[in-house]
Amino acid sequence: MDNKRRGTDVCGVKILERDVKAFVPEEMCEVKDKIDPFVKIVSVDEADVLFSTVAINSEKPVCVQRTNGFDVFYCGKTSRLEGKDPLLAMAVAVSLKEGFKNAFVFRNRMRVIISRLLQSFVVNSEVEGQNSMSHSERVTMTVKKFAPVLGIKGQELKQLLEYSMLHDVGKIGLEQLMLYTPTRLREWLHTGQDHTIVGSIFLATTIVLEDGAPIARSHHERWDGKGYPDGLKGEEIPYYARIIGICDFYDEALNTVSSEILGRPLQEPEVLELIESESGKRFDPVIDKKFVEFMRRELGLS
Ligand SMILES: [Fe+2]
Ligand SMILES: [Fe+2]
Repeated sequence: MDNKRRGTDVCGVKILERDVKAFVPEEMCEVKDKIDPFVKIVSVDEADVLFSTVAINSEKPVCVQRTNGFDVFYCGKTSRLEGKDPLLAMAVAVSLKEGFKNAFVFRNRMRVIISRLLQSFVVNSEVEGQNSMSHSERVTMTVKKFAPVLGIKGQELKQLLEYSMLHDVGKIGLEQLMLYTPTRLREWLHTGQDHTIVGSIFLATTIVLEDGAPIARSHHERWDGKGYPDGLKGEEIPYYARIIGICDFYDEALNTVSSEILGRPLQEPEVLELIESESGKRFDPVIDKKFVEFMRRELGLS
């Protein structure tokens, strides 16, 4: 029987040559939950890869869970992985067994597909007009221009842009609430803060994008600790969340009537003055100074 995955090429992305099956013992329910949507859970006999809490002898690759990662054993070879990502352990196990050229293909491709899908949901939920970009697209454009000033380039920049596109992913459900709840405005104001929490849970449950969860959660935190949802202070706030936070504020102030700011959209010079005055309060003073200087140069205001 042909066990090739039908439609291996999804959106031009090749995933795996065939379905992979894993055995996960009862006591490893956390691992089971994390790999279940992507990998078939089967008995020891049917499995391609075994998970275990202790080292066991087997002709099949075995992923042994440690406190901070996995040891993957196969035919006398061992790969030690830091981090608790069972999908990555699975990809390494498969690569050891089948000699896949790229052990990270499985996870990375899955990540690309899920990320693109979520980004298109975000853009669709933020449609403002036929010719305008969505809020998250505009924030991402600003981050793209500004981040190199902070020395962020290449792969790091690519990663930051992905987080920027997904920073408000938790609003998707809230936008629906606005559409279908009669008391939508009151509900929106009441639940506005929750998009950070909803977004972080959303990204964490995708598994492959869980590294973006702290950024979505903390982009409304303030340097002085008065932000939300956790009241983080100063460098407790993830660096990327601080960068996205300032670009987010800039876009909100320019484009939306926000009760948080002055109740009307501002012009660029006004926003930059406001951002400057928030140095060390709302924003990281170092990022704030560089952002204001950069934007003034960009806009020909200095
Ligand atoms: Fe937000
Ligand atoms: Fe935003």
